[in-house]
Amino acid sequence: PLVSSTPLLRTARAEGYAVTAFNVHTLEMLQAVVEAATELNAPVILQTTMGTVQHLGADYVVAAAKVAADQTHVPVALHLDHCTDFAMVVRCIRAGYTSIMIDASMKPYADNVRETLRVVEMAAAIGINVEAELGKVGGVEDDIAVADHDATLADPEECVRFVSETGVPTLAPAIGTAHGIYKGDPNIDFERIGRIASMVDVPLVLHGGSGIPEDQVKRAISLGMAKMNVATELRIVFTDAIKKVFADNPKVDDPRHYLKPAKDALREAAKEKIRMCGAANRI
Ligand code: 13P
Ligand code: ZN
Ligand code: NA
Repeated sequence: PLVSSTPLLRTARAEGYAVTAFNVHTLEMLQAVVEAATELNAPVILQTTMGTVQHLGADYVVAAAKVAADQTHVPVALHLDHCTDFAMVVRCIRAGYTSIMIDASMKPYADNVRETLRVVEMAAAIGINVEAELGKVGGVEDDIAVADHDATLADPEECVRFVSETGVPTLAPAIGTAHGIYKGDPNIDFERIGRIASMVDVPLVLHGGSGIPEDQVKRAISLGMAKMNVATELRIVFTDAIKKVFADNPKVDDPRHYLKPAKDALREAAKEKIRMCGAANRI
């Protein structure tokens, strides 16, 4: 069965690694991620954006994720990423998601508290995880776009207040990473990660995982990041493999002939991220 990500992330934080959370958009992507985690004995989080829920349907995503979870020995959680819509939160919980990100980070602090609290109360009654964001992660993630000059970092004092006022079990503080591939190096405020981690004991979430150099990923995790989100790199790896098939042979007309190489490429890319997060052989 799908499990809540709360205990997975608490253990990760306590033991100094991060659970890798992968955004998936198709059945093959979902399968490849769970196969990667299975091969490496790693806990794993499958996640979908609101756009993917609209594209596939929450029930289809849950059905596929449940089958994958039932066929592996590693714990698998299913998370709704960056959700700004309470109705979709409820729909996904009813469908069987085991973790929800309610993202009201673009709203004033008091609204963020109120919306997060509402989801935390419901999720706690059901035994699933909740993630909320403080500050604003830059870049583009599906329908959410934050210009560089609007990206703001999370204030450590506010993190303390937010966690105590909402009881949120996991927190994504903006610390300088961005969605998408970085133009140069990311500008991560490591000192801020350390300060936040020393002040709040919930597992912290690193958004914008694509394009962060390995040494910086490791440093962020050593300071308290217990979940790393990866979306863009997987999309690129998957799509590039398909493009290559067609470049080599434009006559291909069997979906299996381009989805199989894409799935294989994605599995290898996911394994690299899992290893980078120190999550291999934790089961
Ligand atoms: P990337 O697209 O940079 O991997 O960010 C992923 C993310 O934070 C999803 O919430
Ligand atoms: Zn994100
Ligand atoms: Na990124």
